Amino acid sequence: MSEDPRRVGVIIVAAGSGVRLGRGMPKALVRCAGRTLLELSLDGVRASAVAGHIRVVVPPGDTELRAIIDAYPSGVTIAAVDGGSSRPESVRAGLAALPADVDIVLVHDAARALTPPHVFHSVVAAVRGGAAAVVPGIAVSDTIKVVDGNTVTATPDRATLRAVQTPQGFDAATLHAAHAAVRDHGSVTDDAMLVESLGTPVTLAPGDPLAFKVTTPLDLMLAEAIVLQARAQAQEDQ
Ligand code: CTP
Ligand code: MG
Repeated sequence: MSEDPRRVGVIIVAAGSGVRLGRGMPKALVRCAGRTLLELSLDGVRASAVAGHIRVVVPPGDTELRAIIDAYPSGVTIAAVDGGSSRPESVRAGLAALPADVDIVLVHDAARALTPPHVFHSVVAAVRGGAAAVVPGIAVSDTIKVVDGNTVTATPDRATLRAVQTPQGFDAATLHAAHAAVRDHGSVTDDAMLVESLGTPVTLAPGDPLAFKVTTPLDLMLAEAIVLQARAQAQEDQ
């Protein structure tokens, strides 16, 4: 597999409506310490320098995210694409907009705006090393129960569980095949699930707590505190 970043594409999915954050706008537009979550996500992708192509999937009809994308100095090819009503549909739109000679595709949530470059590097390295599908994951600190309504039916051994993040990385042919094969997207929350349903192995790579997804107001407060602290540290270091 090529070492050339021009053969790597990143799809940033940003077409959700951000209902749980409750700001009445797509999360990617929400500001975190003065910068939109989309810009922070793009900063992470740019700092990683893994990809030659970025496609940002935005809500159809959006103009504000498109303006940010048009103005962003990514140093690589970047374009906005209209998304769909579910995350898999949005990923599919991004996939269709990548050049045909891309052989590694990363799918990344705009909402994981503080994902550090080393996560991108590990995921790409694992795909280059021969894995068809790679997910970054971290150990879970809570005990997770399986429930049926209000009744607990099982307690999986925590040591066997991982909370998975993005970017998830794929050999491009595998991701195309997975999206083409699976029609019922009802409960699909990540792309690795689609690959798993083909029976193709999915490999785990090291994630990072900073790759958490900004979902609720509490998550946004945490992200804000992290950005402000990093900024203060950078000033002190000067
Ligand atoms: N996403 C997308 N297209 C959709 C739904 C989600 O591109 N139709 C993206 C979101 O923009 C986000 C990522 O998928 O970056 C993860 O989804 P989630 O955290 O659920 O974001 P939202 O769907 O925007 O939030 P909510 O579910 O609270 O409305
Ligand atoms: Mg959602």
